[in-house]
Amino acid sequence: MTHDDYFEEPVAKRYDEAHAQLFQDDVVTPAVDVLAHLAGDGRALELGIGTGRIALPLADRGVPVHGIELSTAMVDQLRAKPGGDAISVTIGDSLRRERTGRSRWHSCSTTPS
Ligand SMILES: C[S@@+](CC[C@H](N)C(=O)[O-])C[C@H]1O[C@@H](n2cnc3c(N)ncnc32)[C@H](O)[C@@H]1O
Repeated sequence: MTHDDYFEEPVAKRYDEAHAQLFQDDVVTPAVDVLAHLAGDGRALELGIGTGRIALPLADRGVPVHGIELSTAMVDQLRAKPGGDAISVTIGDSLRRERTGRSRWHSCSTTPS
């Protein structure tokens, strides 16, 4: 089983509801506060952006966010949300990304444990 298999459409469609506690303001806001501070006037790269739990509110703070995501079904859920179309996403394996030189990305992975 790959990650893409695991986060296929049935799981992706239920992800937010199944993890509703992780979408509460008291969970999301402190994380977004820290990430917005770290990003400063730079950008953020989220590895495993999922349905945009962190990316969307971070983008709302004015931080340009790019995501890398294995699951097209998860990105479909992101795209269906307000502002979801404005976030650029690369479909692929973040563990296999190649370094192409210096960049000003602030990289974060927000996968909950
Ligand atoms: C538990 S979800 C978390 C999503 C989001 N970061 C959040 O906090 O709600 C993990 C996400 O990471 C993605 N993922 C797991 N391994 C990955 C990899 N190697 N490259 C890209 N995405 C990956 C999964 O497809 C899934 O959408």
